[in-house]
Amino acid sequence: MYLDPQDEKILAGEGGETRQKMLELLVALGKVFGAEKLVPIRSAQVSGASYKTIGEYGLAWLSTLDAKAVVPAVLNPIGMPRERWQEMGVSEDFAVKQQAVVAAYERLGIGLECTCTPYYLRETSYGDHLAWSESSAVSYANSVIGARTNREGGPGALAAAIIGKTPCYGFHLEENRRPQVIVRVQADTRNWSIAHYGALGYHTGKLVGNRIPFFTGLESADRDRLKGLGAAMAATGAVALYHVEGITPEAVKVPFDLSGLEIITVESAEIEALFRHMPVDAVAVGCPHCSPGELEEIARLLKGKLVMKPFYVFAAQGVIDRNQRTADAIEKSGARVFADTCMVVSPVMEQYSAIMVNSGKALAYVPDMCAAVARIGTIEDCVTEATE
Ligand code: F3S
Repeated sequence: MYLDPQDEKILAGEGGETRQKMLELLVALGKVFGAEKLVPIRSAQVSGASYKTIGEYGLAWLSTLDAKAVVPAVLNPIGMPRERWQEMGVSEDFAVKQQAVVAAYERLGIGLECTCTPYYLRETSYGDHLAWSESSAVSYANSVIGARTNREGGPGALAAAIIGKTPCYGFHLEENRRPQVIVRVQADTRNWSIAHYGALGYHTGKLVGNRIPFFTGLESADRDRLKGLGAAMAATGAVALYHVEGITPEAVKVPFDLSGLEIITVESAEIEALFRHMPVDAVAVGCPHCSPGELEEIARLLKGKLVMKPFYVFAAQGVIDRNQRTADAIEKSGARVFADTCMVVSPVMEQYSAIMVNSGKALAYVPDMCAAVARIGTIEDCVTEATE
């Protein structure tokens, strides 16, 4: 793999041991995947941030590192809100460990916005090369923005942040971004909610596995709906890039040749069947973290109401800060808007036996990660469930 003279010096140890080890990791990754060179990245997003998932071993490893990120980088959600962890009911033992993980990343120059929606905080553009690791963020960057990132592991994204480059293979290359299967949605999608798109992703991910789907029949898909679709497909399949006819940027700009591809048909009834009624003891929305528009919709639906059961809303701190009045309006109902964490990575959610979500990804992950039954519904359904 080609390395420029500066990289060769880092590899020889001139930039310190951590930078040397980080570049060795990138070179090893590049060799495994056949990369011919490294490519400079615009930003990194680093997973492996919740103490719930990385534990003592991960914390010990992070504490051995000594270098600084050279590109803008953010953390994935952690196990608690950094400021309001007591209010969320996080134990002090967990909080101390989680704070140590955050401090270790801060020493490495990783920004402490702990979110799976970094695209709401920093501009990310068509064609940008990135090293992001959270699967929904990767899907959104590749598919909705038209940026280029592989689904990095936590150490690979951290190494890329510290070196400022990533191996150029996979989705960084034009030829690996072409559709591999057509998904024809036979439904009237004009009134489909974000939850319907999440349910479509939940269902489709199981059908397409890790192939790149090209959707037809989704005329109504806005960015919030695409976010839900991609997040769920990354959870039940391993979809890191998809295209939607006439909507996503590459489907519009690139003249894809679709001839000879398998066609999978998805019908309305298959999606509606996922919307099962069952009693729940908590409601959680914001997977992936809420956009400003989603916060506004939740505030509108909760206006003048009080929640009768725990209602969690998750969003990036930067999004909450810029929409503080909306967040305050939501909290007037008794619902709580928490930053930095989510219903899947926080240990607090393990106290519930059934959780209602409006996300196909959360529908897939809550049973395993929280040991709770998950029910999917629209945001309206979630508000109704919590307030009646
Ligand atoms: Fe984000 Fe947590 Fe969902 S990291 S995509 S809110 S599982």
